[in-house]
Amino acid sequence: MKIIIKNGRIIDPSQDMDGIGDIHIENGKITKIVVRRNGETEKRRAGKTEGPNGKSVEGNAEGHSVAESPRQREIDAAGLFVMPGLIDMHTHLREPGFEYKETIKTGTAAAVKGGFTAVCAMPNTNPVNDNSSVTDFIIRKAIQEGACTVYPIGAITRGQKGEELAEMGIMFGEGCVAFSDDGRPVMNSQIMRRALEYSRSFNVPIISHCEDLNLSEGGVMNEGLLSVTLGLRGIPAEAEETMIARDIALAGLARGRLHIAHVSTRGSVRLVREAKERGMDITAETCPHYFSAGEKAVLGYNTNAKVNPPLRTEEDMEAIKLGLKDGTIDVIATDHAPHHRDEKLMEFDHAPFGISGLETALGLSLRLVEEGVLTVGQLVKKMALNPARILGLNKGTLRSGSDADITIVDLKKEFSVKAEEFASKGKNTPFDGWILKGTPVLTMCKGKIYE
Ligand code: DOR
Repeated sequence: MKIIIKNGRIIDPSQDMDGIGDIHIENGKITKIVVRRNGETEKRRAGKTEGPNGKSVEGNAEGHSVAESPRQREIDAAGLFVMPGLIDMHTHLREPGFEYKETIKTGTAAAVKGGFTAVCAMPNTNPVNDNSSVTDFIIRKAIQEGACTVYPIGAITRGQKGEELAEMGIMFGEGCVAFSDDGRPVMNSQIMRRALEYSRSFNVPIISHCEDLNLSEGGVMNEGLLSVTLGLRGIPAEAEETMIARDIALAGLARGRLHIAHVSTRGSVRLVREAKERGMDITAETCPHYFSAGEKAVLGYNTNAKVNPPLRTEEDMEAIKLGLKDGTIDVIATDHAPHHRDEKLMEFDHAPFGISGLETALGLSLRLVEEGVLTVGQLVKKMALNPARILGLNKGTLRSGSDADITIVDLKKEFSVKAEEFASKGKNTPFDGWILKGTPVLTMCKGKIYE
């Protein structure tokens, strides 16, 4: 099957590309990309054209006018943005074990609806993805039932108990792209050091859920005046920041690759910025909820705003935006954490932490473009190219020869968030009813179209 996406505004930071043009797809791969910049047609040909990084960009010199046939489809993308499929490097798919919250099938359906063509599955399932049979199960299930590509992330420690390292080498061989005990920190510094050392052999990052459990113990929201007023136990910013400081030190000691998950505070942004300035091999992500909603979202004891780390203050939100703007924060990931309605209906203290994020991530993030914090190209970098680079995936690009993972977005089209209509089983969002601008109108995964 041949597909041509015509006349869209193609944004591909991997090629420094922003122009009107066409993308040709055949058998699930991008075969040709024709971009007309300032009215000029720019054709990129294999072996003939040099890409912006000095690398050759494949292409086919044929013209792009094509006759329609049953085996060919033309998609008119005039007025729309065409970008590499988004990659979420932080998703909880819940399968195996918590299928009542989400499955690989429903989670990936939510992903493609949100414009994602690949997601990375966190290991806090039951059983935990701490051995190659669970990794293998996830990969097979995703091939059978998944709407998009699923990359498993293996646990750092057995059972995520923080006591002994999991079989990281074997899991890497089976297809894990990173290691994390996400949902829990690795409290033992010696084990974290070993994990950072061991993972160097496979050149994959350790994704750290930074939380000092002693400082956060019993906490359910951000610590501050509001938590006191509401009579809820707080989690101080320092519970996150002290662990980030520790992990930066350990990454230096181990000379390992550290990626900080879900950055939520101003101090965390500062720590990552300083470490990067010192030339450390460290990357970081934040999530849309940390720059879209503050701690006040929990007013009324709204359990859908209960998330770990918690929603913070206005100053934290501003610092995160600045961190995204100046490149301190490399990635916007969802931390999609679906929970069952009954669980979120419990009292605030007892409800589980988490926000269902796949179907609002792009719309919330595009607000940053509207506010002038990021350009569309920078946003695509943080939601597609950088996750691919950090995880060593051959994705996040529209170069000829790549998988046809493409998202087409109508930046002008508004939509109202309706949790009840989520493809995800998790309806737990504090953004229900919000009007967001920027709708993914078509998601293509390896040439397969979802619209
Ligand atoms: O809010 C959260 N939910 N934060 C985490 O770190 C884990 C996640 C979950 O698995 O529900």
